[in-house]
Amino acid sequence: MKVGMIGWRGMVGSVLMQRMHEEHDFTGIDVSFFSTSQAGEAGPAIGNTTAPLLDAHNIKVLAEMDVIVTCQGGDYTQKVHPELRAAGWDGYWIDAASTLRMSADSTIVLDPVNSDIIHSALQAGKKDFIGGNCTVSLMMMGLAGLFKEDVVEWVSSMTYQAASGGGARAMRELIAQMGSLHGSVADLLTEKDSTILSVDDNITAVLRSAALPTGECGAALAGSLIPWIDADLENGQSKEEWKAQAETNKILERDQTDFIPIDGLCVRIGAMRSHSQALTIKLRKDIPLAEIEQIISAGNQWVDLVPNQKEPSIDRLSPAAVSGSLNIPVGRLRKMSFGPEYISAFTVGDQLLWGAAEPLRRMLKLLGERMLVNAKAS
Ligand code: HSE
Repeated sequence: MKVGMIGWRGMVGSVLMQRMHEEHDFTGIDVSFFSTSQAGEAGPAIGNTTAPLLDAHNIKVLAEMDVIVTCQGGDYTQKVHPELRAAGWDGYWIDAASTLRMSADSTIVLDPVNSDIIHSALQAGKKDFIGGNCTVSLMMMGLAGLFKEDVVEWVSSMTYQAASGGGARAMRELIAQMGSLHGSVADLLTEKDSTILSVDDNITAVLRSAALPTGECGAALAGSLIPWIDADLENGQSKEEWKAQAETNKILERDQTDFIPIDGLCVRIGAMRSHSQALTIKLRKDIPLAEIEQIISAGNQWVDLVPNQKEPSIDRLSPAAVSGSLNIPVGRLRKMSFGPEYISAFTVGDQLLWGAAEPLRRMLKLLGERMLVNAKAS
């Protein structure tokens, strides 16, 4: 299987590369690395070999690939995907960008949740497999069991999204903001007699001052939050909020007749790379809490059911606990006072792993296994 990788040096691409190394995914594939700006220079080492980078805009060379995996971003997809298809290329396109996500020909990949849909798409000859929005994928990983049992009537999801969702530069800026804030009161913090109100006055002044770096995040994120993510759809909803319902239903292949309403507010907070979500779920019926816990636990092997008690919630249900791991803790489960069908939940997931790189890595792996089976059969 000839695999072309584009955008492997960016944040999602680097996490993908790391995971592929960890899982020995490079064994058995013939991988070529492309670059939009540095064709001809040395590519990354795979085992003991490195090869020069190929030109990511050269349609002829791209068309030699059986599979293209891109984390290069939406502009690249928008330009190159139609050119490649127009040139007659019928290989598999695996993409982290949202550009093709909702197109009729594409399948959103999240195999622990929709492997049956991925397999029927492959059977039907579909070739475009796109990673979902991070928040949507993480929510679905956590609630997979409930969706499988089809007991969800609707979900309200209120998010606490990490800086990484805004890109690597937003993560750096978050830390720079933290540094500016600390720097402005470092002396006061060590003075025995300083009052907390004077510390706070200083911090508030810095949060509102033009000196705070906000070029990437758009506003103060450290010591504050930003209650809007992505474009303004001008109906009161942000694009990030719109994706929850649109993508979840596409992932589950539910249409107008049986779609599950999902809505809420998306908020950026000063976490680094793990998104959290507070969920209100209306079930189709009254199910005992113990059974709900069992269903959620059985959703997939990555779900970590956290007992709804103070200590385990604080220990296990936070970005600090989750970042860098594939664990999807789900906790704060209880029946809400609105009625027996209403439950609360809180879930956290690494936005770069299950939220971005992992579903793509697994799709590539699946294609490899499939091609092997087909080759043996023929
Ligand atoms: N849109 C997400 C965010 C990240 O801004 O957090 C990518 O899915």
